[in-house]
Amino acid sequence: MRKLRIALTKGRLEKKSVELFEKMGLDCTELINKGRRLILPVGDYEAVLAKAADVITYVEQGVCDIGIVGKDTIVENGKSFYELCDLGIGKCDFALAGKKGTDFFGGYNIKRIATKYPNVTKQYFESKNMDVKIIKIEGSVELAPLLDLSDAIVDIVETGTTLKENGLEVIEKIMPISARVIVNTASMKLRRDEIDGFITEIEKAKETVK
Ligand code: PRP
Repeated sequence: MRKLRIALTKGRLEKKSVELFEKMGLDCTELINKGRRLILPVGDYEAVLAKAADVITYVEQGVCDIGIVGKDTIVENGKSFYELCDLGIGKCDFALAGKKGTDFFGGYNIKRIATKYPNVTKQYFESKNMDVKIIKIEGSVELAPLLDLSDAIVDIVETGTTLKENGLEVIEKIMPISARVIVNTASMKLRRDEIDGFITEIEKAKETVK
């Protein structure tokens, strides 16, 4: 049988995930010195480095058994997998933000919202019974209100520095975000003991990494 495969979100969550793996007593030497390699041994597991949305695809499709991914990507894209634990790392918030001092909820015109998260944005404004025009942006969403492409953005805010340095502010927080462990539904049945073992160890490790 192949090693249990863990899809790991590249970038922001990567460093904290490595810390967790090290606390679990897993050898992360190859992962730390990965160069441009994308599949690396981590202890007895195999880590696959991928973009957040692809972590979900790989786990849903069963080519990876376990995934470590932000709740933001799960609520935007996720469907069929188990979400087993909150790792308490990568903490941030989904927020509605706009130019400092503007009255976003005032006036009757249909507001334009730029975001990397159109589904989250749609649900949020539906819950407010507000009709908005959603504009999908791939990154640095903060540019949109500055260029007058949108009236506001829906994005993740961690320290608030990006907003602040660009003259923007939070209008309303939408929901708290953190990294989660997700598991493929078939793996959960077929490799239950190994997955339980991984979850127990990572739950223990997360208490010491915050
Ligand atoms: C995220 C997010 C904000 C920023 C928030 O972007 O989209 O731009 O981080 O962090 P802060 O509150 O600590 O400033 P990311 O760095 O992932 O880049 P991207 O927008 O290009 O995806």
